[in-house]
Amino acid sequence: MKQMDIRMITDPDQKQTVARTVLEALTDWFGVTESREEYIRLSRDWPFFAAMVQEKPAGFLCLKKTGPKTIELAVMGVLKEYQRQGTGRALFQAAREYAVKAGYEFMQVKTVQSGWYEEYDATNRFYQSLGFQELEVFPTYWDEANPCQIYIMSLKKETSAIDLIMSRHSYRGKYKPDKVPREDMKAILEAGLAAPSGCNMQTTSLIAVDDEPLLKEILSVIDPPVAQTAPALICVLTERIPAYRDKCFAVQDYAAAIENILLAALSLGYASCWYEGHITDDDRICDRIAEILNVRKDYEVVCILPIGKAETEPVPPKKKPFAERAWFNGFQTDSQ
Ligand SMILES: Cc1cc2nc3c(=O)[nH]c(=O)nc-3n(C[C@H](O)[C@H](O)[C@H](O)COP(=O)(O)O)c2cc1C
Repeated sequence: MKQMDIRMITDPDQKQTVARTVLEALTDWFGVTESREEYIRLSRDWPFFAAMVQEKPAGFLCLKKTGPKTIELAVMGVLKEYQRQGTGRALFQAAREYAVKAGYEFMQVKTVQSGWYEEYDATNRFYQSLGFQELEVFPTYWDEANPCQIYIMSLKKETSAIDLIMSRHSYRGKYKPDKVPREDMKAILEAGLAAPSGCNMQTTSLIAVDDEPLLKEILSVIDPPVAQTAPALICVLTERIPAYRDKCFAVQDYAAAIENILLAALSLGYASCWYEGHITDDDRICDRIAEILNVRKDYEVVCILPIGKAETEPVPPKKKPFAERAWFNGFQTDSQ
């Protein structure tokens, strides 16, 4: 097969030329002149992906925004000589990548229900092979001879717990000004409270700060300044009470809660950093924060966690090699 190039086209005239070349050759699917011309006209304004072979169109795909987080695969065509060679799949991959990057969460596509026409049966099989799921059939959406099958696909990337853990890094850059919705903050706090604690003493408590003047007041006592652009903060509180005989596990308890918070925040797209050393030093910034927040005397502020969307990528720190820190069946040194 000749070299194929998938590209996004932005020039409306070029989009229209590609759409016309492909759709006019696919009369089995786009035989009705009126609706074909409508697709060609509308394609001018839609995100447009073309498969080109030696600068000639082999196929194209258009997306159409249908809601704040939803997008539709509005029209797609591949010339017969390039079908069954991965052209449609490659166009779809490029479109999907675009949709994910643009923040869309679901993609839909409509076609004629399976069992009516051979060509459309193949189209149904193709969409299913891409991962689309049957959502609903609307028998008269187009007309009774063409029942409309709507397919849906989630664009949210499923991240495994291990992938999430491995992608967490402390973020010390600037935050975007976007507010953190209360439902996100509540989910993050709940993740923190779900952490294990010694003898289930639950010695960790949390205060989320998203009120602007209060946030400013807290940030103003942090010197040298950190997290100054964060739109929200979580203050981690501990009660240093014994859990078992004279043993107090408060530090372990809040450490587990903090890690849960960092991971939950990351899973919702927020960055953070564990600021403990900075606020619990001799200058006791933590006590000033506790005062501002009216924290009861038997509780102590031990850490602050900014929560917000990162403006830049975090810089992953260097970690020691696996073999220097983890072993099977006994301690090992270099000489062993
Ligand atoms: C107990 C504790 C205290 C920390 N205190 C601070 C701090 O005061 N300031 C800061 O910038 N980072 C602080 N960190 C973050 C560490 O510097 C960071 O976790 C470490 O450099 C490894 O980087 P990573 O989180 O990207 O894996 C703290 C981390 C822990 C566990």
